[in-house]
Amino acid sequence: MTTPKTPVADADAGAANPVSENPAAGNHAAVDSAAVDSAAADFAAAYPVRPVPAPGPVDTAPIATTPAALEELDSLWQAVVHETRTRGNDVHLPISLAFAERLCRAYPEADAELVRVATLLHDTGWAHVDESRIISEGFTGDWRKATIRYEHEKQGCDVARRVLPGLGYPAEFIERVCAIIDGHDTRPVAQSLEDALMRDADRLWRFDQAGIALASSWFKMDPATYTDRLATEIIPELITQAAHDMATADLNRSTALLKTAVIR
Ligand SMILES: [Fe+2]
Ligand SMILES: [Fe+2]
Repeated sequence: MTTPKTPVADADAGAANPVSENPAAGNHAAVDSAAVDSAAADFAAAYPVRPVPAPGPVDTAPIATTPAALEELDSLWQAVVHETRTRGNDVHLPISLAFAERLCRAYPEADAELVRVATLLHDTGWAHVDESRIISEGFTGDWRKATIRYEHEKQGCDVARRVLPGLGYPAEFIERVCAIIDGHDTRPVAQSLEDALMRDADRLWRFDQAGIALASSWFKMDPATYTDRLATEIIPELITQAAHDMATADLNRSTALLKTAVIR
């Protein structure tokens, strides 16, 4: 397949993207620290080819054929059941985790446990913000700069710091999880391979039929309009080649199934 080559550290990536959950533009102030910039620069230097080629196997079969690993993270899921009941997280997070595990098999040099835990928890903060503002600010108007986007990232870190110690995760690991959660929507570029894989998993779920059904309703778009935008706006944002391949395969299946070429 042919995929667009995205800039390595383009601060405006996603800026004009009405369907991205990860608006990347404009809000540099809250995350503009030297440490963050340095980490992003290090990652960009270490992975100069974009999309990042996959050294491991890339599985493009429907994600339902490879759910997330059985039982291994059950204790963590049980600790955040409350947080899954907001904003479709009980659909979004398990599918994203399945994609995250797939991506880790394609990039075996990544710390898979870090990617998995960060993906599972990344949006749990939505359960701890004013739910009425998720729609009014999170999806409308100038929502890319919405304060609530920052709030859900901070609240997600609070969830991680609350639930992970009791499950035996070391403090250093928890802070690495929080470094990924904090800024996953608002920081313009990835800081590490693990950060990149979480971001790609966070987008890939939308290409599955369940993601299209749920997310198109959030944006009040018909499936044809929504899948057109996935192709033109979300695929170019994907950081890894494996994610490009998975997204393209899923999009082809989903648009055929939903007959978006005709029903438009
Ligand atoms: Fe998010
Ligand atoms: Fe998300």
